[in-house]
Amino acid sequence: MKNIYSLIIIVLGTMIFLSGCRHDDGRAGDYYYRTDMHDQPSYKPQQSPRDPVEGTVPVTGYVMEIEDSAMANRLQNPIGQNPENAELSRRLYNIHCGVCHGAGGKGDGTVTPVFQTPPDITTGRFPDVTDGYLYWVIRDGIGIMPSYYEHIKSDERWLIVNHIRSLQGE
Ligand code: HEC
Repeated sequence: MKNIYSLIIIVLGTMIFLSGCRHDDGRAGDYYYRTDMHDQPSYKPQQSPRDPVEGTVPVTGYVMEIEDSAMANRLQNPIGQNPENAELSRRLYNIHCGVCHGAGGKGDGTVTPVFQTPPDITTGRFPDVTDGYLYWVIRDGIGIMPSYYEHIKSDERWLIVNHIRSLQGE
């Protein structure tokens, strides 16, 4: 009878000891004597996906670095100025640029009393800069003007460039 108690104590003791065992990945608790089905290369629920292989191109296309104005000047405006997109171009300009540059592009937007006055982009050297240059300024910002890389899509930047051209023509 005494031996039976000793045996129970040993079995219980071993179970308690094993319940504290940890797996290689740090999980505590249940002790599995075989883990080969669990530890396998397949992806677990909630696990983040694999990193893409080096050189992978996103489905939305590759975003090119524009390193300097010479490179910007080589960009071709793929969206021509036309009466159909003129209204959209004007609205995009007013939403994103007008607050500083003014609706007419003269640098007299509503925030200018408390912010550095931007240049008049309808005169001076601006009629002579390329569309690519204006696109680059919108995309990457210049001086203290912020970049609109995240906020304005590529085709919308070209539409805004078109609207600056029409302001310069006025
Ligand atoms: C927060 C105010 C602000 C907004 C919004 C803003 N700009 Fe500017 N922009 C400036 C300031 C200030 C400068 C002068 C930057 C400098 O020289 O440091 C400038 C400069 C420029 C220039 C002249 C670049 C050169 O070669 O000197 C162009 C072109 C221009 N902005 C276009 C735009 C367009 C297009 C938008 C809208 C997508 C826009 N800006 C939105 C403040 C703004």
